[in-house]
Amino acid sequence: MSEKLIAPSVLAADFANLQRDVEMINNSDADWFHIDIMDGVFVPNISFGMPVLRDIIKHATKTIDVHLMIVDPDRYIQTFADLGSTILTVHYEACTHLHRTVQAIKATGMKAGVALNPHTSVHLLEDVIQDLDMVCIMSVNPGFGGQSFIENTYSKVSALKELITRKNASTLIEIDGGVTNKNAKQLVDAGADVLVAGSYVFKASDPVTTVKELRKLVN
Ligand code: DX5
Ligand code: ZN
Repeated sequence: MSEKLIAPSVLAADFANLQRDVEMINNSDADWFHIDIMDGVFVPNISFGMPVLRDIIKHATKTIDVHLMIVDPDRYIQTFADLGSTILTVHYEACTHLHRTVQAIKATGMKAGVALNPHTSVHLLEDVIQDLDMVCIMSVNPGFGGQSFIENTYSKVSALKELITRKNASTLIEIDGGVTNKNAKQLVDAGADVLVAGSYVFKASDPVTTVKELRKLVN
């Protein structure tokens, strides 16, 4: 069994102390930085854009996992590659030509991920799963941190795991939204590989210990 990964979502950081919070994650047991880019069109919120990501990357020493919640993501693939993203995830619901978009991401040297909204079936990935480095199952409706976890996620994870195994793919399963110590173990048992955690980590009184305990819980 490969190691399970923890990806704190910077959306929940203190943006007035961003360098401090990035260094705190550098010095924790976390594996990745999860970066949420929202355009106010695909989701009803705007997070931050390229200048902020550039400065995060300047200080970050771990894998940069960028989650694009934007329409027409193809326009910005090269920009995110140039900034230094390791993984670029686009939404299934935002891509008419998903296969083309995935190939374009991989052509830059980045890993390609596809995110699914809570209502989107994992079975829609049947014909593209072998091309995907990661699938991000949204366990909240995208747009905001701090929402509560949607329980139907467990069965989606199991169904996706079954699809990945059946197709002999090596796709990682990431869970994003409302992840805490209450659901982490059950998610991993269902097949999850990467757990994104925003509020649970950054709003904790001791984020470093919170990451350490979450990691211990799933590995
Ligand atoms: C939601 C974002 C998530 C969010 C998770 O649209 O994609 O990554 O930051 O935050 P929590 O863990 O607080 O639900
Ligand atoms: Zn996210």
